[in-house]
Amino acid sequence: MPNIQPIQKPQSVQIIASPPRRQAKPADPCAMVIFGAGGDLTKRLLVPALYNLIRTKALPENFALIGVGQSARTTESWRSDLHDMLKGFIGKTGAELGVDHIDEAAWSRLASKLTYLQGDITKPEIYSMIAAALVDAERRHGTRGNAIFYLGVADQFFEIVVEELGKARLTRQDKDQDGKLSYWRRVVVEKPFGNSLHSARDLNAHLLRTLREEQIFRIDHYLGKDTVQSIMAMRFANGLFEPIWNRDRIDHVQITAAETVGVEKRGKFYEATGALRDMVPSHMFALLSMVAMEPPTCFDAAAIRSRKAEVFAAMRAIGPEQVVRGQYAAGMVLGKPAAAYRDEPNVAPRSDVETYVALRVEIDNWRWAGVPFYIRTGKHLSHRMTEIAICFKQAPYAAFQDTPVDSLRPNWLVLRIAPDQGISLQFEVKRPGPVMDLAAVKMDFRYDDWFAKEPNVGYETLIHDVMTGSTALFMRADMVEQAWRVVQPVLDAWVAEKAACPLYESGSNGPGAADEMLARDAGRKWRPVSSS
Ligand code: BG6
Repeated sequence: MPNIQPIQKPQSVQIIASPPRRQAKPADPCAMVIFGAGGDLTKRLLVPALYNLIRTKALPENFALIGVGQSARTTESWRSDLHDMLKGFIGKTGAELGVDHIDEAAWSRLASKLTYLQGDITKPEIYSMIAAALVDAERRHGTRGNAIFYLGVADQFFEIVVEELGKARLTRQDKDQDGKLSYWRRVVVEKPFGNSLHSARDLNAHLLRTLREEQIFRIDHYLGKDTVQSIMAMRFANGLFEPIWNRDRIDHVQITAAETVGVEKRGKFYEATGALRDMVPSHMFALLSMVAMEPPTCFDAAAIRSRKAEVFAAMRAIGPEQVVRGQYAAGMVLGKPAAAYRDEPNVAPRSDVETYVALRVEIDNWRWAGVPFYIRTGKHLSHRMTEIAICFKQAPYAAFQDTPVDSLRPNWLVLRIAPDQGISLQFEVKRPGPVMDLAAVKMDFRYDDWFAKEPNVGYETLIHDVMTGSTALFMRADMVEQAWRVVQPVLDAWVAEKAACPLYESGSNGPGAADEMLARDAGRKWRPVSSS
């Protein structure tokens, strides 16, 4: 970006007359049953998130954690593995949980609530064991019959687990005389929720045979990120932005999730998925819906979800001409040699699966008609960067026509989500001196400058919301189906075309065709992929 002056980190900043931080609403007593107890998700994210929740006193005192896994082990050895995992995070920059020590007292409180069950989740026997463990949890930990079933297993098991839970009557909720639930049962469904419109519809239909919609929590970990949630606060708690948040003032929006990592050990999963399915209908559209939704009438979950669902419903289905894809070839990422996708473990040597995708989306409603939303995401790119950048329409040039100013840059409002979190506004100022000369500068807000950084893996809020029954951050059945509807024509066209996927160099900013796509649209350009 031209002419931007480096910014100084403020020495100390004080929140301006804001009320003190509020405590989270206490969660209901409950047991949480994790299917996939030995998996990476449990070790690297779910258990660290529960540890953070217990450490910050947001986990109910009356809590039990029941891990269900395939491997033969004892509760004691599961506990000790998880403890080792937590300790492994200490001092590791870039790890899911950035900590310099483990609060052993908090860990012991959590460890005392753990039970491990071994079994085959496709067979009824394990469900009888779970039923007995839930009764035991109620007796020992006072969980009052409330239970969360967390499907941390591969997606091919979602239907069978829910079906078996239903058959074992574990998803039944009972009402008291006043019609209130005397205890609740909730199911958290991890990504991917289907891999096409057809399969998402099937999965919804299947789950809804056993569960009611309000029992299903379709999780998208992007919505657990504080900066993503703060988009709503920024838009709706400030008088400044909403009046200009529309097609009259906004030229276009760019949403980027650039990663430096490759597919790592997930070759098998990725071969069946690719960047479009992996990131777009879930994470990228979740970000888009936060930017594009109408203001809800209140912060009630139903109101928020309806507003987001309207965005999905107003999105036009996209065709292959609105999409560019690419696959990483060998190169250098962050100064280190990086292998080609086709040389990754469990990847076919002639695979045509995309690891990068850029697309143009349109939202057909009064606020957004004619404003393109450009989305791009890819692996093995030059920097890690997740951001939403709003490009405002340029000011008329007339006032500067008899001055040395030969161009005006548009204003950019950039919501940075990762790795650095904050908001910046780029605008034009006059350079000091006798000449009417302009320069673009940036006003920059960084979360780290204003708020103490709390260890957080991104699942804390989501798990807490499941415990309190707040569905605002979870996808409703119709939202998921609408998201797949938008991308399905592209998936179909790629299968029909059987065209080779173009390559891009690892460590680059993706395929050149993505730049050409924007250039064709009124000469627009992607923002650079950079670390801040
Ligand atoms: C996951 C995708 O859902 O999100 C991964 O399956 C991707 O491929 C990851 O790397 C990105 O999440 P984050 O939080 O690291 O941006």
